[in-house]
Parts: sequence; structure tokens; C-alpha cells
Amino acid sequence: MTEVDHLSKAAQAALLLPDDQRIERISGARWIGYTRAQDILTKLDDLLAYPHQPRMPNLLLYGATGNGKTMIINRFIRRHPTSDNPGGDAVVVPVLAVQAPPLPSESRLYDAILEALFAPYKARENVSKKQFQVLRLLRAVNTRMLVIDEIHHILVGPTNQQRIVMNAVKYLSNDLQIPLVGVGTLEAVRAIQADPQLASRFHRAELALWRMGREYRKLLASFERMLPLKRPSKLAREPVATKLLAMTEGTIGELSTLLKTAAIYAVRTGVERIDEPVLAGLEWAPPSARHTPSFGHV
Ligand SMILES: Nc1ncnc2c1ncn2[C@@H]1O[C@H](COP(=O)(O)OP(=O)(O)OP(=O)(O)O)[C@@H](O)[C@H]1O
Ligand SMILES: [Mg+2]
Repeated sequence: MTEVDHLSKAAQAALLLPDDQRIERISGARWIGYTRAQDILTKLDDLLAYPHQPRMPNLLLYGATGNGKTMIINRFIRRHPTSDNPGGDAVVVPVLAVQAPPLPSESRLYDAILEALFAPYKARENVSKKQFQVLRLLRAVNTRMLVIDEIHHILVGPTNQQRIVMNAVKYLSNDLQIPLVGVGTLEAVRAIQADPQLASRFHRAELALWRMGREYRKLLASFERMLPLKRPSKLAREPVATKLLAMTEGTIGELSTLLKTAAIYAVRTGVERIDEPVLAGLEWAPPSARHTPSFGHV
């Protein structure tokens, strides 16, 4: 008989699937509510409940690439989803998240917002008209928080462009009296710190790299519970825990990819658990050792 206590109910049920479907299940994305993510979700909730006033507090969520920032935002949006507002005039979009354009352009920032709202717009329209349309629409759909992901894209670049975009961001926040949440890398922190007015308006929340400790072991145990393998791997124990941290250099994204890859290998080879020999058998280079091609995205 297969021991299943190491798995969540959903993962136990997945053990009954044929291997190819089990592999598909392993590859899918699932949410783990680790403590820091919950803390940040609470901060976002507090910010959303903050009463309207001329100087709204803003938040900058920052951390290394692949460390779960966007996942937290997506989770937050699921808590505060768009609703059709039956009986009302317009849909209600309590939290609007947009991806910053890849370069500091006020006009492209407005395009991103209009696109996220499925609003028709003319890309060549002059910028003040676009701004007007953005402000009007965000009010119409009752947006109470604007999230700008990848905010470093618009905060770094030629100083004059950067300043224009920063002023646009300040203006949105002032005029709508809603909190802004910027999500980005350490570069975003530096850019915001360089502008005293922005610096005083943005609180910062870091999603730090993972280090060995209780929380990390809990995270490993959570991954183990959701990966449908027939045998327990005991990922939170040594030496595997330290090995996983070294191979992934502390981001949850790398850890997730590594564990999924290892779990698939464990299914295919029939080993049915993730242990040192399985990890050694993977073709895996830690992120810092990877060759980054000069084109595209890896
Ligand atoms: N809470 C979580 N539970 C499970 N897996 C997670 C969680 N957060 C992140 N991951 C995994 O890490 C991957 C990277 O996360 P995410 O895209 O949120 O990182 P990011 O910090 O936004 O990175 P970037 O700065 O590059 O945009 C996700 O695709 C997912 O596989
Ligand atoms: Mg992201």
C-alpha cells in the first residue's frame, strides 16, 4: 500500500491519475501561502481599506526577480475581483493591476491602464487627453487601488523622461486619492529614493531572498505536500534542504521550477520521491551560473 500522509488531500487524489496526467498536475501552478506572503496580503488589505484623503500612502513591493511578487498581486486580485455590479451602471474593478510599459513613457503608461480596462483608445491621442480618459474611467469603475508591476521599467532611464513619468504617477495618486502599489526590483527602490517627494509617499515592503531557517523548511514541506509523489521525500530535512537552497539561490520561482522538474523525473524513473540522487541526476545549473543569451527571455 502507498503511504499518503505526506500529501494534501488534492495531491493524494492525484496519485490515482495516470502518470502523464500526474505530470501535468505537477507542472501546474499552485499557491503556497507562506508567512511573508500573508503579511504582504494583509498590508495590501489595510491599504485598500485606507480612507480617501489627499495624501494617500503608497507601497513599493520589491525583491529579486522570480521571488513571487506578481503571484502575491494576483492572489490579492482574486480576493478583490472585478464584479459586474448587477443593477449598477458599470463594472467595478476594485484593484487594477497593470504591467508598466518597457520604457519610461507617460503615454504608454496610460495605454497600459486603458488596455487593462478594455477601454478603446487611440495610441496617438495626445497625452493629456489620455490622462483625462484614464482618470475618468478609473473613477467610473470605482478603482480603489492601482498596482503598477515592473515599475522599475518606467522609473529608470533618461532623467527627464523619468521625471515626467514620476510626476504622472504622483498626479494619478493625488487626483484619484487611491493608494498606488509599485512592484519592482531594487532599481525601483533606488529610483524612488532619489525623489524625496516620492520617497516620503512610498512605504516599502521587501520580498527578501529565502534563507535557511524555519520558514524555509515550512515552504519545502508545503511544496512536498502538493507534489503528488508516492513516497515521502522529507524535503525539509538535511542534507536535501540545504542542497535545494544552494541550487536555487533563494528565490521561490527557482525552487518551484527545480522541485517540479525533480518531481517529474521521480515519476518517470519510478523513484517516486525527491532525494539527493534525483537532484544529482537533473541537468540543473544554479541561476548565477546560467549563460544568458543576448536576446529574448529565459
Ligand atoms: N506563493 C507561491 N506559491 C507557489 N509558487 C510560487 C509562489 N510565489 C511564486 N511562486 C513561483 O515562483 C514563480 C515566480 O513568481 P513571480 O512571477 O510572482 O515572481 P516575481 O517576483 O514577480 O518575478 P519578476 O520580478 O521576474 O516579475 C511563479 O511562476 C511560481 O511558479
Ligand atoms: Mg513579476
